[in-house]
Amino acid sequence: MEKIIIFDTTLRDGEQAPGASLTAPQKLEIAFQLEKLGVDIIEAGFPVASPGDSQAVQAIARNIKKSGVCALARCLAQDIEAAAHAVKPARHPRIHVFLATSKIHLQYKFRKAEEEIMGIAKDAIVRARTFCDDIEFSPEDATRSERPFLFKIVESAIKAGARTINIPDTVGYSYPQEIYSLITDIRNNVPNINKAVIAIHCHDDLGMAVANSLSAVLAGARQVHCTVNGIGERAGNASLEEIVMAVKTRPDVFAKVYTQINTKEIFRTSRLVSNLTDFVVPPNKAIVGRNAFRHESGIHQDAVLKKRITYEIMDPHDVGIAESQLILGKHSGRHAFRERLKTQGFHLDEEQLNKAFVRFKELADKKKDIFDDDLRAIAEDEIRIVSAVWQLVRFEVHSGTILKPKARVVVKRKSKQLTGTSTGDGPVDACFKALDKITGYKARLQDFRLEAVTSGKDALGQVSLCLKIKGIEINGRGASTDIVEAAIRAYLDAINKIDSA
Ligand code: KIV
Ligand code: ZN
Repeated sequence: MEKIIIFDTTLRDGEQAPGASLTAPQKLEIAFQLEKLGVDIIEAGFPVASPGDSQAVQAIARNIKKSGVCALARCLAQDIEAAAHAVKPARHPRIHVFLATSKIHLQYKFRKAEEEIMGIAKDAIVRARTFCDDIEFSPEDATRSERPFLFKIVESAIKAGARTINIPDTVGYSYPQEIYSLITDIRNNVPNINKAVIAIHCHDDLGMAVANSLSAVLAGARQVHCTVNGIGERAGNASLEEIVMAVKTRPDVFAKVYTQINTKEIFRTSRLVSNLTDFVVPPNKAIVGRNAFRHESGIHQDAVLKKRITYEIMDPHDVGIAESQLILGKHSGRHAFRERLKTQGFHLDEEQLNKAFVRFKELADKKKDIFDDDLRAIAEDEIRIVSAVWQLVRFEVHSGTILKPKARVVVKRKSKQLTGTSTGDGPVDACFKALDKITGYKARLQDFRLEAVTSGKDALGQVSLCLKIKGIEINGRGASTDIVEAAIRAYLDAINKIDSA
């Protein structure tokens, strides 16, 4: 059996998804969970892009011990130096250099000839090798590149010292049979290909990223680039959980390969990424969607009770989905609270724990039964609130069918309290207008979703929203038993990302 190397790019290509932006502590939190999940390599960021990204990659490199830590670089000296510096503290560092090879990119983006591109790639790999032994090279837009040129540049990249050759379907243009023939052709036409691992990197513009990645594996690729929940540029990247579970569920098809992913950590990882990036997982999303293991039809329910495999090809426990447990109540103490959070995979520091405990007690006063999902929502909120510039102090709203909704919101910026009042079309609109006055931002609401975290009248409500501020889209999320409060928290969460950036 041969291992498929899982190269997770949630923190790099995933974070390029419009609206998704993570702080360095949030990136580190996700990296710890990716390591627990068992990913082989974490692509932690693009250090030259910003000092914040460079710091995040460095923090990950210092703390992650089992997984490899990779940084992205264009074929430019300053990129390579920034990437090398950021991954230096890692136990298993890797630099990933990329350069487009398709005629479209050569003609319109670079205005350069093929020979010149070959030279730039070769020099960049040689330079990267002076810092690090483990170099990956990506001919960007490989699936739209002329094959003879692709073979030549791959051969030259391996000669220059690249150990992994990644084949990106950058614009999600390809389809499974084409990917199969491309990987097969590379194996047959690049003389030194056995000296490198072939990787695949697919985008989902036509909804075929996972199918294309699996097709590449069948043709001999042994590393797959993927992201948790399939988040990424435009329509996203190939989803990690779908690839891993396809390989596990169909050993008849993927007889020669395995992954070392601890699949029981999949659901928890999905939730963490969804909550920190504020990307809602669609209910019908394969593997991790709320409905992925729910049976609505009576015929199906009856059959599943008789024999699960009638309508379930996977066991939900294998991906870490368990019934949300009733766990704590208002008499539960701090110790039980901390221990339960630990079993949920949260390691809050003292300050975060104190704040989360206060919110837990407030929630327990309003809500009789506290479930794991409630706890997770509180803990995930606290991971962000502690580093927040803006914090909610209190608010009041007046609304109804006969009066114009009016809100008064008090927030704290660092230690200063600020108050804003406004009317609006509804109570949430009035609060957002009051917040706009306080923060000075003219935030345009692009998207607003409300979800119940658990069932019941007293369930926690979670608001996920997207604000457009100065042309930038930014996501936010907040939870409370009061949906207006949840909306205010979500607004502040988004604003905090801009102000702490
Ligand atoms: O999609 C792409 O081509 C990329 C490269 C940087 C590998 O993300
Ligand atoms: Zn990509």
